Amino acid sequence: MGAIFQSLQRTLIAGVVLLVIIVALTTALSPANVAFGSHAWGAFVMRWLHVMFGVLWIGLLWYFNFVQMPSMPKIPDEQKPAISKVIAPTALMWFRHAALWTVITGLTLAAMNGYIVQALTLHRPFTPIGIGMWLALVMAYNVWFIIWPNQQRALGIVQVDADTKAKSARMAMMASRFNTMFSVPMLFCMVAQQNGGF
Ligand code: HEM
Repeated sequence: MGAIFQSLQRTLIAGVVLLVIIVALTTALSPANVAFGSHAWGAFVMRWLHVMFGVLWIGLLWYFNFVQMPSMPKIPDEQKPAISKVIAPTALMWFRHAALWTVITGLTLAAMNGYIVQALTLHRPFTPIGIGMWLALVMAYNVWFIIWPNQQRALGIVQVDADTKAKSARMAMMASRFNTMFSVPMLFCMVAQQNGGF
């Protein structure tokens, strides 16, 4: 066990192995509803991947807003580089790639289910997921084209003068707060389509 948990990669592989065991045992006890390898099965796997990437993305967004931002003023100046030079760049790397893969898997899922156009044009009965998709697309745009460029300047990855650095930090913070606000209705809409939310 110790050898597994000392590596993130091995831990994730262990998670997949556990999943395979659970699925195998469950299907051995009672036949599966969906045929392995069918289109419905593929769409389900896509949905699972989508939720995994979505959780990574929104989990990091909430980490920034719930933990990192409120903690920064309480950290002594000489210790701040641990956040700005080490933790934040790593968190931002996972954050923006998780956002990208959430979009890719989400759009693929809607295409596989055959309602991507109806959803994006907000046609009934796909209005809930369509609204969720638009909210999440705006959020993903924010991540890649507002938060990330501003964070690069704020964290010193791109060198700028002190005034631009301060303005960029504020802009990144505002965009991150905006995404946190959007995440509330976005997640409601994501789960509403399947589960009768509205
Ligand atoms: C542009 C980005 C996104 C797109 C295009 C998208 C698209 C979709 C689609 C098409 C579905 C299936 C809806 C259905 O038929 O029930 C879905 C479900 C879902 N999405 Fe997203 N989504 C996006 C972002 C996110 C994010 C950021 C999260 C955060 C965790 C998320 C979490 C979920 C969840 C939990 C479900 C419900 C799965 C279920 O009820 O079985 N999505 N999304």
